[in-house]
Amino acid sequence: MISLPLRGDAEEIDADEAKMLLIGDNGINGESSSPLRDGAPEIQQYNIRSIESTVVIRQLTSQGLSFQLWPAASTFVTLLDNYRRDPSNNPLTATLSSLKSSPLNILELGSGTGIVGIAAAITLSANVTVTDLPHVLDNLNYNAAANAEVVAKFGGKVHVAPLRWGEADDVQVLGRNVDLILGSDVVYHDHLYEPLLKTLRLMMTTTLQLEGKRLIFLMAHLRRWKKESVFFKKARKLFDVDIIHSDVPQEGSRIGVVVYRFVTKQSSQNGRIVSC
Ligand SMILES: C[S@@+](CC[C@H](N)C(=O)[O-])C[C@H]1O[C@@H](n2cnc3c(N)ncnc32)[C@H](O)[C@@H]1O
Repeated sequence: MISLPLRGDAEEIDADEAKMLLIGDNGINGESSSPLRDGAPEIQQYNIRSIESTVVIRQLTSQGLSFQLWPAASTFVTLLDNYRRDPSNNPLTATLSSLKSSPLNILELGSGTGIVGIAAAITLSANVTVTDLPHVLDNLNYNAAANAEVVAKFGGKVHVAPLRWGEADDVQVLGRNVDLILGSDVVYHDHLYEPLLKTLRLMMTTTLQLEGKRLIFLMAHLRRWKKESVFFKKARKLFDVDIIHSDVPQEGSRIGVVVYRFVTKQSSQNGRIVSC
C-alpha cells in the first residue's frame, strides 16, 4: 500500500501529488500485474464479485494524479458491487431507488481512470458518461474500450467526453437528461473548489429548468486538508448535504473515505438559486 499520512486538523503539508494516498499496489479486491519500471503503464484487474467478472484499468502513474487510482474510487466500486449483490442493506439504495429512469443516465465528474463510471455502468446497467480534462481522455477511452464487452454484457454503456469544471459550454453539451452525478476524490486543491461548484450549479440549473428534477450528486471523498471545509460550506448553500456512508479508517489513519449525497435545496428548486 502506498500512502501518505493523513493530515491532522492543524497541519497541512504540501502533497506530492503523485503519491497522495493511492489505492494501493493491489487495488480494490484486485491484483496488480507485476510492478513495472517507473513510467510504464500498469494494468490493474478488479474482480467485481457481484457479476463474477473482471474489470481492467490502465494507470499511467508517472503522468500525474488523473491517471491513478484513488481511495475514494475504491470505496465507490465496493459499494456499487455490494449494491448489485444485495441492495436491501446498502447506503446507495435510498438514492438509487428514488430514481425512476431506466436505464439510469449517470454523469461522472473528474473520472480519472474511469473505474467508478465503468463499475457503475456494469453494476447498475446504466448509461454512464465519464468525463475529465481533455488530456485525460485518451486513457479514459482506453479503459472504456478495454471493458466495453463486460459493460455491454450487463446492459450498460460508457461514453467518454470532456468536461472542464467551471465551463458552461461543457455543461450545455452534457448536462441534460442526467439522473445522477458521481464524483470520487474531486475535492482536493482549493483552486478547483469554485470551478467544481460552478459546474454543479450549472448542472442544477440545467436539470431544473429542463426537467424539473432535483439534482443528486454522490461524492466519495477522503479528507486531506482542513481547508476542504470551505468547499462544503459553499456547497451547503446550494445543496442539502448528508453523509450516507463512512469507511472505517485504514490502519494508522484517523479518517476514512466518506460518501456524501448532495441534493438540490428546495429553495434553489423554487428558483431562488443562491450564489456561493
Ligand atoms: C484525485 S483525481 C480522482 C480521479 C478519480 N475520480 C478517482 O477517484 O480515481 C481528480 C480528478 O479530477 C480531475 N480534474 C481536476 N481538475 C479538473 C477540472 N478543472 N475539470 C475537470 N476535471 C478535473 C483530474 O483530472 C482527476 O482525474
